[in-house]
Amino acid sequence: MESIKRTKIAEVLKRTDFGTLVNVKGWVRTRRGNKQVGFIALNDGSTINNVQIVVDLTKFDEAALKDVTTGACLSVNGVLTASQGSGQAIEIQATAIEVLGACDNSYPLQKKGSSMEFLRSIAHLRPRTNTFGAVFRIRHNMAMAIHTYFHQKGFYYFHTPIITASDCEGAGQMFQVTTMNLYDLKKDEKGSIIYDSDFFGKQASLTVSGQLEGELAATALGQIYTFGPTFRAENSNTPRHLAEFWMIEPEVAFADLDELTALEEDFIKYCVRWALDNCRDDLEFLNKMIDNGLIARLESVVDTEFVRLPYTEGIKILEQAIAGGRKFEFPVYWGCDLASEHERYLVEEHFKKPVIMIDYPKEIKAFYMKQNADGKTVQGTDVLFPQIGEIIGGSVREENYDKLMARIEELHIPMKDMWWYLDTRRYGTCPHAGFGLGFERLLLFVTGMSNIRDVIPFPRTPRNAEF
Ligand code: 4AD
Ligand code: MG
Repeated sequence: MESIKRTKIAEVLKRTDFGTLVNVKGWVRTRRGNKQVGFIALNDGSTINNVQIVVDLTKFDEAALKDVTTGACLSVNGVLTASQGSGQAIEIQATAIEVLGACDNSYPLQKKGSSMEFLRSIAHLRPRTNTFGAVFRIRHNMAMAIHTYFHQKGFYYFHTPIITASDCEGAGQMFQVTTMNLYDLKKDEKGSIIYDSDFFGKQASLTVSGQLEGELAATALGQIYTFGPTFRAENSNTPRHLAEFWMIEPEVAFADLDELTALEEDFIKYCVRWALDNCRDDLEFLNKMIDNGLIARLESVVDTEFVRLPYTEGIKILEQAIAGGRKFEFPVYWGCDLASEHERYLVEEHFKKPVIMIDYPKEIKAFYMKQNADGKTVQGTDVLFPQIGEIIGGSVREENYDKLMARIEELHIPMKDMWWYLDTRRYGTCPHAGFGLGFERLLLFVTGMSNIRDVIPFPRTPRNAEF
């Protein structure tokens, strides 16, 4: 076969220099045809769209084409031609076909319309489907949007550790990291494990958040963000929780509550706008196949101002709804941690737009949040989104050493390993604020997928670490 430089399918579909000999490489999505002519839909991942390869069967030996089956990998030379068929502008009239990799009929992606559950069980192959190709191209684009946004605003990308000895959220949902022999653990007379001989000489875990180290950086570099994997050993089998997820955590020196919520809103709108501007083909596919309201919902978010809602007012609205006959599974009272059904009621039914809830009761929020003068609430913010519920959690940080220490003692947080964090409040402390966006929660919103396991290539959830 004549050697011609490969053109990506995304490029070839835009070309109009008909008559040119081109080469494309990719995987067969479908093959159909009759005795005279065959049609191969070829995809190489550069776009959701396939290129149609037209095979004149009077010029090709049947035996040479027997391995051109669904899933096979081909290299095709052919003439770029204006398409006679509907549905595509161009096609390639094949002059030579080489099968780079045959694919027999045990290939599990023979038919369209496999369930999401089934595709999860073949996560090693599902990127070859239209849906997952679209999702993972959008995932890449959102990562680029995030780095571009912060870089343009003068934030530094700061790398915080993955292995840590501190529990940022204080929720005790950490995966332990050890090189000790679990069959032969050394214990003291009280039965506690002696970590002295462990790799780090103390108990270590995978991080639940890079925030504490992010605060160190913000109080030196001014404004930073992190973007990395985060781990939570929470046993929640929900469509919104992963044991391993990616989080973006900006932290800004001198920011107050208004500046924090403005940044949350501006950032998320920028990401959604980026998807609308750069992922059109994939979004149109998902809008058609997965969620008919997707594009309209994305457009509405970039065009609406988010509501700022103090927690106390939110509780009143929910109580009024209950008085009016609205039923919820979980009870509502001042001090309760809102369930997803409550958050979604406020966003989807009451306000019909994203809500940034502020000023939460201190009891349901982490130790580091700035305490309000009322003695009851803290300057925490959750951004609540349609379909998703909480997409961002953030706060103004308590910068006063004494107040922070008092809260730490109240909560019995073991601070002996966090002396370094407290030093930020001892040496030139400053007001600052930041937030964490769950990358996969953003992707749920932007793709319209309904389960978080379907927006990350290899999901990690309770009892599942395959692939
Ligand atoms: O609200 P969270 O727990 O906040 C923090 O970790 C803070 N340290 C962030 C900060 O202020 N720098 O988590 C932040 C976000 C949530 O709003 C949610 O989007 C996502 O992380 N998230 C999860 N995403 C997937 N699976 C899980 N198990 C998640 N837990 C939190
Ligand atoms: Mg939260």
